[in-house]
Amino acid sequence: MTITPLIAGNWKMNGLRSSLDEVAELAGLLTTGEAPRALVVICPPATILHTVASAGATSGILAGGQDCHTAVSGAHTGDLSASMLADAGAQYVIVGHSERRAAHGETDEVVRAKAEAAIGAGLKPIICVGETESERDAGNAEAVVASQITGSIPDAAGQHEVIVAYEPIWAIGTGRTPSCEEIGQMHNAIRRQLVERFGEKGASTRILYGGSMKPMNAREILDIENVNGGLVGGASLLAKDFYTIISAV
Ligand code: PGA
Repeated sequence: MTITPLIAGNWKMNGLRSSLDEVAELAGLLTTGEAPRALVVICPPATILHTVASAGATSGILAGGQDCHTAVSGAHTGDLSASMLADAGAQYVIVGHSERRAAHGETDEVVRAKAEAAIGAGLKPIICVGETESERDAGNAEAVVASQITGSIPDAAGQHEVIVAYEPIWAIGTGRTPSCEEIGQMHNAIRRQLVERFGEKGASTRILYGGSMKPMNAREILDIENVNGGLVGGASLLAKDFYTIISAV
């Protein structure tokens, strides 16, 4: 089965309207160079989501949100619903990023409800999982991730597209990554679990790797079996770096 890889940029709390220059530069690189062999998604802050979605449209750059509320609407000051993101031009939304799990106490149950809300609004959720360094050192990485997958991925993933992002927490923003062998083992384990639960749909679900993916290491990581793309933080902020990673597919 061939799965078109997906490279998503997670801008986190970075990006002003002036950052649209980077989107324009990336659009230029994508349209003048060789056609990308991956779907390209940028998840900017919500304040510029609509402009990024519009600016990227002609060059095939898709837009995504970084989080959404579990509810469709209501008294939730400061929050954004999945349908608001869709209305602003998003096709994807990241849910359960480790920074949200840690800073906002999001449990697997909450993450699953967010993924359901995203699907309900017609978005494709990018559901993040990953172990801490001490969990890996204790030999529990696979068990921790398996339990996050069970708890965070809704049953609706049997009928709707979801994307899984494996992001070891200790690799995020640190410049450190697991070995290719460790990444391969984890992605294979996730694949087995998805197939067991969702059959064919699980076999075609994209499993992204995230955590210090850089122009330097993208090629070797993207080459690993069952790595179907990347979720890129820091290196997605500069068009040139992000383009190099996209070109590594
Ligand atoms: P990083 O972040 O690429 O800067 O490590 C990845 C992420 O948090 O999604």
